[in-house]
Amino acid sequence: MDSSKIREEFLKFFSAKGGSASGGEGHKIVPSSSLLPSDPSVLFTTAGMQQFKPYFLGEKSPYGNNVASCQKCFRTSDIEEVGDERHLTFFEMLGNFSFGGYGKEEAIKLAKEFLNSINIKIDYVTVFAGDNDVPKDEESAEIWEGLGFSEKKGTLKFCGREDNFWGPTGEEGPCGPTTEIYSQACLPDRQGIEIWNIVFNQHYRHKDKSLTKLETFGVDTGMGLERLAMVSQGKSNIFETDLFESLKSIGATYGNLKAERIVADHIKAAVFLISEGILPSNVERGYILRRILRRAIRYGNVLGLAKHGLIGLAGKVVEIYQDVYPELKLSEADILTVIQKEEEKFEKTLDEGLKQFSKGLDAFELYTTYGFPIELTLELAKEKGIKIDVEEFNKKFKEHQEISRAGAEKKFKGGLADTGEKTVKYHTANHLLLAALRQILGPEIYQKGSNITAERLRFDFNYSERLNEEQIKKIENLVNQKIKEDIAVEMLEMPKGEALKIAKVSFDPAKYGEVVKVYKIGDFSIELCGGPHIQRTGELGHFKITKEESSGAGIRRLRAILE
Ligand code: ALA
Repeated sequence: MDSSKIREEFLKFFSAKGGSASGGEGHKIVPSSSLLPSDPSVLFTTAGMQQFKPYFLGEKSPYGNNVASCQKCFRTSDIEEVGDERHLTFFEMLGNFSFGGYGKEEAIKLAKEFLNSINIKIDYVTVFAGDNDVPKDEESAEIWEGLGFSEKKGTLKFCGREDNFWGPTGEEGPCGPTTEIYSQACLPDRQGIEIWNIVFNQHYRHKDKSLTKLETFGVDTGMGLERLAMVSQGKSNIFETDLFESLKSIGATYGNLKAERIVADHIKAAVFLISEGILPSNVERGYILRRILRRAIRYGNVLGLAKHGLIGLAGKVVEIYQDVYPELKLSEADILTVIQKEEEKFEKTLDEGLKQFSKGLDAFELYTTYGFPIELTLELAKEKGIKIDVEEFNKKFKEHQEISRAGAEKKFKGGLADTGEKTVKYHTANHLLLAALRQILGPEIYQKGSNITAERLRFDFNYSERLNEEQIKKIENLVNQKIKEDIAVEMLEMPKGEALKIAKVSFDPAKYGEVVKVYKIGDFSIELCGGPHIQRTGELGHFKITKEESSGAGIRRLRAILE
């Protein structure tokens, strides 16, 4: 079965079925959420359950109790494994979920029935063996036994915390024992491959790692589409499935399978990350993107991939996925430009860096001067049998970070500490502008950057198209209308958790303290912000947008003045 068909069959099956314990209305199909989660403690979406986290914790789900999805996921935890038969950084996860709707029996039976319906045989299953904190999952074992699985036949195995307990994502959250389904169809000589993870969210894990019982019983399942495609298509590795077919034309000739797989995986992940507005940089998500892109470029070199060879592959990624993820086609031009720029930048330094490296330049200098991610230096070193002093690198890296952070803070404070009347006004205008953009262009608009002087404001936000005259006029008019309404700007102080429920944030909330300031301008704008702001919008005068331009892939930049 090709992968589109598997996706389709999965969603069709769960949309029609399930929830007999809760009225039997089937599962509501929810679209994949972004790869950039709203949970501030994680950088990327790594599992289907993330967008549903609040509903496992008792918040009412707007979709009902039973949902299913096909979720884009990105995990760096397996990056070293990419190149074997089954590991990827970007993958799609099929999942069905229940928030108090159904229990273990229905979850297990539905999984078995679905696999049956697409002719996939379950070779064995695993169940949580129990430990000091959480008891053995007797119930799941009995259900599987009822379906013909047994320890005696070797089709039912008990495993501990390491294998059969999942979660939470981030620092805290729902978690619980799992029961996992394995197929040996593709890798019969080994332990087979895990194709479905069924998690029973019975606990909440706190930051201190202690567990409390959840009030709502949750079902959270995840099945990697690529792995399922591999089993269904009778292939011995995921890179031979239809999801990778067109991304691997080079390797066979050059005979470097691992490099070819790394390139295919990383370029795919990069395309998806860039489509969400991430740009290569030296911090956080941008750094991860840079790291996988540069790794792809480097392995592309190993393969002797033609100059700008990655661009061609990126185009193919868009082709493979455009029907399911239309955002790829929409931002294709931006995606290709970002990759090309990074390729040019890195290719220039790669040669020089390699030369310096063989002359013994240290890892930290390679990082600062040539942009070599430490991971890449370590790989190169390993290949060449050179030893790198990682501790020394980490020490220098930390110092470097502290210096640049201190610099950034100084700049930030400087900007805001200059409470000159004009800049404070621009600061408030900034909030009005963001709220106006959200109202006119859509609620998914976020601030991507801002710079204020006494003369003007400059504002970057995620949007993939040039704004037309009419949109600009509308935005200006809306801001001016709010100025005219002379709304009071209120400052509220509250615990961060509460603030995040009511206010949108453009910055990583982890950067804020536990008690935060929220600035509220009527019903129009509410933002986490350190301030300061003016008292009433009426003080702002007339707002005018003076320039609209691109500021990178998927990012627009506006300049505006107050007259
Ligand atoms: N949340 C579980 C996983 O990601 C299903 O494996």
